[in-house]
Amino acid sequence: MTTMTQDELKRLAARAALRYLDGARIVGVGTGSTVKHFIDALAERKDRIDGTVSSSEQSTRQLAAHGIRVLDLNEVDAIPVYVDGADECDGRKCLIKGGGGALTREKVIAAVATKFVCIIDPAKRVDVLGRFPLPIEVIPMARRYVSREIVRRGGNPVWREHLVTDNGNAILDVHGWQIADPVAMERDLNQIAGVVTVGLFAQRPADVVLIGDREM
Ligand code: A5P
Repeated sequence: MTTMTQDELKRLAARAALRYLDGARIVGVGTGSTVKHFIDALAERKDRIDGTVSSSEQSTRQLAAHGIRVLDLNEVDAIPVYVDGADECDGRKCLIKGGGGALTREKVIAAVATKFVCIIDPAKRVDVLGRFPLPIEVIPMARRYVSREIVRRGGNPVWREHLVTDNGNAILDVHGWQIADPVAMERDLNQIAGVVTVGLFAQRPADVVLIGDREM
């Protein structure tokens, strides 16, 4: 038996996601190396959709290169299905996202979407979230204040110094947290002034998680 590489496993999950589109005419599209495969797969059936809503400039460029229409979220009333990757996923389908820095638009699309299909490779499945540093998008002037608030909560924030998000903000990657109650943590961190988006997708977790071509 041949062993699949991580990239092959990502591609497998991305292609499996096509089965979950259920005739949707508008598709929400995430960001990252797994989604890159999904966009390539979606291109093969682009005539069956009216358009997409994209979570990043990077995905928008790839969609446009395939001739897939990208709509502004304000132009659509609903997104029946949203396909995106994740950095970690626990047993309740709560996620850490934002490794690619697109967490804010991703969270907005997830909030609008009726069904969130998350595509991951097996290495992302964990029992407790937190081994992957938790990304938090903050407005630039609040970076040090938010960092102090994180330290007060036992985390170790590291500024992703060379990244400015698509929204003109900064990202702090928080190391050292074992996130046993992701819903409570998401709610708490959302209260800190200056926080734009917390990369925990727990209050609105995924609906379907595909690990390779297998549904979790
Ligand atoms: C982008 O900001 C992230 O939320 C991605 O969904 C996440 O980092 C997964 O990326 P890969 O598919 O590249 O692992």
